[in-house]
Amino acid sequence: MEKFDVVIIGSGPGGYVAAIRAGQLGLKTAIVEKDKELGGTCLNVGCIPSKALLTSSDHFIFAKKEAQKHGIVIEGVHVDLAKMQQRKDKVVKTMNSGVRALMKTNKVTAFEGFGTITAPGKVSIKSSSGQAQEIETKNIIIATGSVPIELPFAKFDGKTIVSSTEALTFMEAPPRLLVIGAGAIGLELGSVWSRLGSEVTMLEFLPRIALGFDLELSNLLQRSLTAQGMTFHLETKVTAVKVDNGRVTATATKGNEELKFEADKVLVSVGRAPFSDGVGAEKVGVALDDKKRIKIDNQFRTNVEGIYAIGDVIAGPMLAHKASDEGIACVEIIAGKAGHVNYDAIPGIIYTNPELAGVGLTEEEAKEKGIDYRVGKFPFRATGRAVSNEELDGTAKVVVDAKTDRILGAHILQHAASELIAEAVSVIEFGGSSEDLGRTTHAHPTLSEAVKEAALNVEKRALHIINR
Ligand code: NAI
Repeated sequence: MEKFDVVIIGSGPGGYVAAIRAGQLGLKTAIVEKDKELGGTCLNVGCIPSKALLTSSDHFIFAKKEAQKHGIVIEGVHVDLAKMQQRKDKVVKTMNSGVRALMKTNKVTAFEGFGTITAPGKVSIKSSSGQAQEIETKNIIIATGSVPIELPFAKFDGKTIVSSTEALTFMEAPPRLLVIGAGAIGLELGSVWSRLGSEVTMLEFLPRIALGFDLELSNLLQRSLTAQGMTFHLETKVTAVKVDNGRVTATATKGNEELKFEADKVLVSVGRAPFSDGVGAEKVGVALDDKKRIKIDNQFRTNVEGIYAIGDVIAGPMLAHKASDEGIACVEIIAGKAGHVNYDAIPGIIYTNPELAGVGLTEEEAKEKGIDYRVGKFPFRATGRAVSNEELDGTAKVVVDAKTDRILGAHILQHAASELIAEAVSVIEFGGSSEDLGRTTHAHPTLSEAVKEAALNVEKRALHIINR
């Protein structure tokens, strides 16, 4: 029986990054993946293919609507969806082979098959062809991720009632698309199909979109997406979905009103649930919490010695980078080092146009926690770079502790917010203040100047403001 130091079950950004770090640290490492390709949800049916389609559809809108503002005349702009999807598939394939190469470089053995913990230190692997083998290991890391939540009255059929997985593969834009849930997945895939020609209706149970993000910027995002043609119904709870002859009718309640929505397809994006079915965790005594997440201590240890868990299968935001950093920290702890994740500095991003990004506390959270806070804001339209880019939408905002000036949160709505947020993440990681950020030289002309100006505006001293 082959013996390892670490066996990682699941090859998403949690598992495969943990494997790389384990390889770097000289641990004899194996990764077990039930799917044919490595990379998990994020790489195969999540972050990466959705970003491919978001970028392609954004380029289409640029060519169709924005290019003329720059004096670029493009005639006959249209979408070749088959080609767009082929490009997306190619992007995924490129990344698949990249991860496989990384496993090889780091001397990680990749096993294809369903991994089940049969006892602490033992993992059985059943391949898709039915062959089974058992491997032995000192440590096991469960990194099995999450799956889309299904609504009891709207079971996924993969054609008309779909999850994000199928919504990434449509070969024509559905004329009318209903989206249940205005979180990251609904907003991103709703944007893709709206840009590519669908009439998109978003049904959201809460009185706001993008829960977890800054409320003010979420409302501004909703306004932008509405202007782009998406329709939002908030405080609208979907209670029934019927499919008849390939057509959908959804029933929803809004206050005392009952509403009906008709569509050709419905995307259910109401969250994801941790996935550990069949991994054998419970059988060997690993404790789960009330949400079926694997319980861990502050060092990713479950209650069973030698079994650890990271990523979507444990508590916390279901984000690829959170899983990766937990994977690194977990392996470092196994190797006897001091692994660490700073949960106060994990950015979240919704890749719409404009993108919505945030890190740390929102203004609402600061209020809820009774923190004495101050806010500094700055509109991108007051920066030379946003004007020259013709991208006027958006705001940068920082939330700081009123007494210490330490930055507690930063929030950005802008086309490039996913990149701009990184600066704020670093400042928070280093415990920086708005004074630090405001005194830092930012290249001119750049969009990042708005972040500096937002920091200066905590003291109402932003420079490029005409009517204060
Ligand atoms: P989500 O939890 O972000 O949003 C789901 C929304 O559905 C909530 O606003 C909820 O109020 C609403 N909802 C629930 N039941 C409903 C009903 N019956 N009728 C109407 N609305 C209802 O979930 P989402 O978007 O599915 O994403 C799942 C996970 O994946 C999240 O943790 C998210 O952070 C992560 N993710 C992150 C991405 C990113 O970082 N860009 C992209 C995609 C997913």
